[in-house]
Amino acid sequence: MARPYQKLVFVCVHGRTCPLQGSLDTCDALRQLVTLAGLRDRIRIVKSGCLAQCGHGPMVAIEPDGAWYCGVTEADAERLFEGPILNDSPLTELLYQPASSGKNVLPPDRWPIPPL
Ligand code: FES
Repeated sequence: MARPYQKLVFVCVHGRTCPLQGSLDTCDALRQLVTLAGLRDRIRIVKSGCLAQCGHGPMVAIEPDGAWYCGVTEADAERLFEGPILNDSPLTELLYQPASSGKNVLPPDRWPIPPL
């Protein structure tokens, strides 16, 4: 069955912590890579709301792979694009492996310090 997009890549840009960790830059970098590769009809980079993993971000979820990535900065965007997004090759060092399913929000005293 045809799908509108081969991959949906959700980047948390509206939660309490990921934006402070630069997730909008990550999102912009991924969008630019998709555009430069001419793949806007196959891969959609989605500005997502909070993925309930606050403090582990920037969080990125790739569907239908079901692979989630944590701490994905703008500097990691190219590796994420070339690996899991484009070639189904996991980026193991950033692969998110939570202790349990569902919500995994760090307590506020462990949240990242916003950049100056
Ligand atoms: S702020 Fe990104 S997961 Fe909550």
